[in-house]
Amino acid sequence: MNYHLTSFGCQMNDHDSERMKGLLESLGYREAAVRDEADLILFNTCTIRGSADDRFLGNLGEARRIKRENPDVVVAVGGCWAQSQKAQVFSQFPFVDIAFGPGELARLGELIARERIEAVGAFSFDGAFSGTLPAKRERPHHAWVQISVGCNCVCSYCIVPSVRGKERSRDARQILDEVERLATDGVREVTLLGQNVNSYGRDLPKDDRVSFAELLRGVGSIPGIWRVRYTSPHPKDMREDVIAAMVETPTLCEHVHLPAQSGSTRVLRRMRRTYSRERYLELLARIRDGIPDVSVTTDLIVGFPGETDEDFADTLSLVREAEYDGAFTFVYSARPGTEAAEAMDDDIPPALKSERIQALVDAVHATSRSRAQRFVGADHEVLVEGPSRTDPTRLRGRLRQNITVNFSGDAAPGTLTMVTITGASSTTLAGEQVGVPATA
Ligand code: 5AD
Ligand code: SF4
Repeated sequence: MNYHLTSFGCQMNDHDSERMKGLLESLGYREAAVRDEADLILFNTCTIRGSADDRFLGNLGEARRIKRENPDVVVAVGGCWAQSQKAQVFSQFPFVDIAFGPGELARLGELIARERIEAVGAFSFDGAFSGTLPAKRERPHHAWVQISVGCNCVCSYCIVPSVRGKERSRDARQILDEVERLATDGVREVTLLGQNVNSYGRDLPKDDRVSFAELLRGVGSIPGIWRVRYTSPHPKDMREDVIAAMVETPTLCEHVHLPAQSGSTRVLRRMRRTYSRERYLELLARIRDGIPDVSVTTDLIVGFPGETDEDFADTLSLVREAEYDGAFTFVYSARPGTEAAEAMDDDIPPALKSERIQALVDAVHATSRSRAQRFVGADHEVLVEGPSRTDPTRLRGRLRQNITVNFSGDAAPGTLTMVTITGASSTTLAGEQVGVPATA
């Protein structure tokens, strides 16, 4: 039996998809190269913006065609879009055999066995931490480690709390055990994952309560693990103890992804982010003071309801002031059931939204290109990941700052090597492995 899995959305979904693949392979399934060759067509969906829905629905249309030609094919839809649709999936898309939410991944095997049972909407988190399931890792020396599920924030634009439920932290001992097993298995870099990683632990019973900073220190001192990252923290929960842990634990990498969402305090208030532009910038200054040569990335939204030219100018100036190494930029998309969609008018005309996103992308490129120049001419430690995606005669790796480097060299994947950085674009670096003559 062959399966084909398409994953949409965030790292949380990438992580779940690795587990789905591992689970299916443990059941004897093999991965099909193309969807047409699969007996099981599986989607792990996202619903964060309307564009995520549209992209998935286009793919689902293809599955419908394949199923029409071969009715024995099983079509399964998991993840956030499935959760948001609940039982409607089956009435709207009758060719879908299985649907399940993000909390029900562990039951995938059972669901496949009992096709066509309606499993969405249960929010049963038993076994929701897919860390206990086998994984098929896309990067063999890197692993995602889920530390919490769900989110207690009330950001007015965001659909995640309604599809992923309330925040639940995973027991710290379980997390440390998983990372120890990963290290034994050859993993050298882990990324701790949660919707809001730095509120980790607050819901744990008093006797077992571990803070995010303590967890970072614990994971960071596991032998064999060379690099530790995490995503995403919420600025409101970013405390001094986390910065101190990053400074004092050599394996914790010099990178913070700190979603700002907007540079306008007025918009931030309407987004219910609970910090102002000034507080965000103060936090950033403390991070930069504490962690030398840290790279900082962010998420930004344009076209939020009521965003004026002045508000948008504040976002542009935040980009320049914060000097981001990179940013994910999004056009606001009204999501059903969220406060912003229900109570605020989606009043920014599409043409103005496009104009703003273009100006924002340009501003981000300008700062990230100029920031990247600081690496050029120096030697940096790179964790080798494999062949370069654009030129297989070269290698691909990552700096501690999470920036991708394509370089000439002969180092093996999963090892650390020194690379002289010779050039920089806004998103990647180019270099040559120290001591190895250039081949390209
Ligand atoms: N519209 C546009 N962007 C959104 N994000 C979350 N919800 C929305 C929405 N309704 C963005 C935020 C978040 C990232 C994962 O997606 O920037 O940090
Ligand atoms: Fe991830 Fe949110 Fe998309 Fe779900 S809806 S896959 S949590 S980005």
